[in-house]
Amino acid sequence: MSTNALYTDLSGYYDLMCADINYEAQSYSIKRLHQLLGNDGKTHLDLACGTGPHVRYFIDYGYKSSGLDINQPMLDLAQGRCPEATFSLQDMSQFVVDEPLDLITCFLYSIHYNDGIEKLKACIASVHSALKENGVFCFNLVDKDKIDNRSFVRHSAQYEQSEFTFQSGWHYSGEGERQSLKLSIDKKTGEETLSWQDEHPMVALTFEKMKELLSPFFDVHIFEHDYEKIMPWDNKSGNAIFVCVKN
Ligand SMILES: C[S@@+](CC[C@H](N)C(=O)[O-])C[C@H]1O[C@@H](n2cnc3c(N)ncnc32)[C@H](O)[C@@H]1O
Repeated sequence: MSTNALYTDLSGYYDLMCADINYEAQSYSIKRLHQLLGNDGKTHLDLACGTGPHVRYFIDYGYKSSGLDINQPMLDLAQGRCPEATFSLQDMSQFVVDEPLDLITCFLYSIHYNDGIEKLKACIASVHSALKENGVFCFNLVDKDKIDNRSFVRHSAQYEQSEFTFQSGWHYSGEGERQSLKLSIDKKTGEETLSWQDEHPMVALTFEKMKELLSPFFDVHIFEHDYEKIMPWDNKSGNAIFVCVKN
């Protein structure tokens, strides 16, 4: 059993697990928010880019897009999907870029992979110094006080001769600044079933705390977690899209 199999040994199955995610809608929505609130520039970096689906869309929208991730197997898949992009093996809590950028994104709650508040603060500082004036930082976040430990997402898919079942859910103890993402993968081939259980440690915080961390560096806008419509956060939902403009 590994704590991180999905992004290493099982990285070849990552896209299968995410087959239901509408990456196009996510990318398009963030492009619109960037046009509305940003500086009109077209240089982009995706943090924790995984296999590069968002980078692909941003290139197709005319951005000079790049990605970084901490797991090389994910970057290898991203490079295959986006041969024209540059990918780098870096930790998002202390990354550097060659030249200041117009847009930095972090999708699928991956900002929580900053393991602890200090690392999250370091990530915010890295983002701030990597952005141009009026550059935009967009990510989605879950509020620790709204996590329901009973809730999970389950998805099955057929691939080659096997049936895969993926399950994922948040877990928060109710105290402190740690939550985890629990993932399970079952691969059934004939009568044989192989199972993997991942548990990824992540930073836990409220939206209020995140706003407090960002406000010295950015004008912070919070939107409902809806990639079809742009609507201000209703102050109740536990998931939201943060759009932060460098000040
Ligand atoms: C849930 S996946 C999201 C991938 C992609 N953004 C997407 O939307 O499909 C999380 C990604 O975060 C990466 N990751 C985890 N910790 C990281 C860190 N500290 N710095 C950069 N990437 C990290 C993993 O390797 C993985 O590719």
